[in-house]
Amino acid sequence: MAIRGIEKHQFDAVIVGGGGAGLRAALQLAESGVKVAVLSKVFPTRSHTVAAQGGIAAALGNVAEDKWLWHMYDTIKGSDYLGDQDAIEFMCKNAAKAIIELEHFGMPFDRLESGKIYQRPFGGMTQNFGESPISRTCAVADRTGHAMLHTLYQRNIRANTQFFVEWFALDLIRDSEGDVLGVIALEIETGQIHIMQAKTTLLATGGAGRIFQASTNAFINTGDGLGMAARAGLPLQDMEFWQFHPTGVLHAGVLITEGVRGEGGYLVNSEGERFMERYAPHAKDLASRDVISRAISTEIKQGRGVGKNKDAVYLKLDHLGEERINKSLPGIREIAKTFANVDPIKDPIPIVPTCHYMMGGIPTNLDGQVVLEDEKVVNGLYAVGECACVSVHGANRLGSNSLLDLVVFGKAAGDHMAAAIKANNTHKALPAGATDKTLERVNRLENAQGENVTEVGDAMRKTMQTHCGVFRFPDLLAQGVREIDAVAKRIPNLIIKDKSQVFNTARVEALELDNLIEVAVATMHAANNRTESRGAHAREDFTERDDINWLTHSLFYKKNKQLTYKPVRLKPQTVESFKPKARVY
Ligand code: FUM
Repeated sequence: MAIRGIEKHQFDAVIVGGGGAGLRAALQLAESGVKVAVLSKVFPTRSHTVAAQGGIAAALGNVAEDKWLWHMYDTIKGSDYLGDQDAIEFMCKNAAKAIIELEHFGMPFDRLESGKIYQRPFGGMTQNFGESPISRTCAVADRTGHAMLHTLYQRNIRANTQFFVEWFALDLIRDSEGDVLGVIALEIETGQIHIMQAKTTLLATGGAGRIFQASTNAFINTGDGLGMAARAGLPLQDMEFWQFHPTGVLHAGVLITEGVRGEGGYLVNSEGERFMERYAPHAKDLASRDVISRAISTEIKQGRGVGKNKDAVYLKLDHLGEERINKSLPGIREIAKTFANVDPIKDPIPIVPTCHYMMGGIPTNLDGQVVLEDEKVVNGLYAVGECACVSVHGANRLGSNSLLDLVVFGKAAGDHMAAAIKANNTHKALPAGATDKTLERVNRLENAQGENVTEVGDAMRKTMQTHCGVFRFPDLLAQGVREIDAVAKRIPNLIIKDKSQVFNTARVEALELDNLIEVAVATMHAANNRTESRGAHAREDFTERDDINWLTHSLFYKKNKQLTYKPVRLKPQTVESFKPKARVY
């Protein structure tokens, strides 16, 4: 299907991405009377939020006494002190309200005997500043994201949000003053190019876990918003920090929720040892994810792995009993049977740390406005969810804080966008030649000679997996920089081999790789440059956290592959700062 001409549309607000963050923001806008468009490259309820399993955190105190301040402390500690404390305070303080709001929208949370919302323990979530684990994660069995996404989609339908389904956003439109005036998009089915002019534009495109070979992420998680931001000259923040979820199914990469360990499951090595007792004597299997992923990798490296190649460990949950597994973890039983060929009511599941979440992203303030190095806002542009870095997750996210991030900051961005539109209700004129570069990029794919998308994509994924994993080594990082830069040089030569294809799928895959490579390059350079170990960034040559030199956020610019740094915001909004201290579980 060839590329067709250009059509123009005007909206008050354009949102790129139909996952939890985009839909929460859209709902806020539509309900306040704003004309809002949501562009999604898949049907919105197929967005990756649908795959979120274990739950959403909030200090409701339904199982035991809880406080948002304890949640804030846990999140700061989990972030290895790289999270901005004002943003973390905002998120944790607004969590309970966000849950009640979701419940009132119709989200079918699981219940306790008392009728209150059910809560389960999750890694790093504690009572009284680390004293003991607490049940803080609200859940809908092991399908929480599914329930949340469908609830938000239905509310948006009711609120008259306009959806543009299977539309792929290509680039931001930025004028000479640096203001963002909308996006250029491809209608996948027809090949039509569209200008979506907007008074405010929100990027909510989710993660980019597909830069790695082994990932819990859907194939759609290709960092589209980050690619758009990078090409528009904007920085990407903290890209060296990637979360490897401890429990991805061996060889398949599919997520096995931390909720399994929250419900009482645990990890064992080839000797049948419950090894987390050695690495995290207090929290054990409910330590934070970076700690557990390193422990599993060490067990495997030291020869205590399980299976034919000794390249996994076991997640054991049979002792929970069939009834409990069927009630609280039905999806996990299904996944284990399908992807690991084991029934967890009888046998343990072979798992390995698997790329799961990008802590970095497009830098924003608490209202979701995209900000530059000096905190100056980019007029008209917002970002929320995994593609954004506000930064509440710092160097390591706590499980179940991501769904919370989506709804709290999705709402905040929606509120700010609605107010901005009210205050300045005009469209700025589009710059001349707004679509030129984009069309050039899209049309290059029609060239007769060039490189195959799969081959170049495989080279990128192999480089990232080999050189930028759970543990990072100086020689591998340096070589990784050279290799990923070499892969990036091949990107302008991508072509679509099969020109006869009907639905533009090969074209979309090529354009997705344009975005993935921006993320991969930023990640490798930022990782190579950060000479300390913090959260998920664990270096073999600099094994300690270095708060003197590195209590800073990295900012990577595509132009000249420049890296700059800005200080972490240690001052919360209303409470005392949590001073960095040794992080043990
Ligand atoms: O393990 C999980 O259910 C994943 C949750 C999360 O990443 O927040």
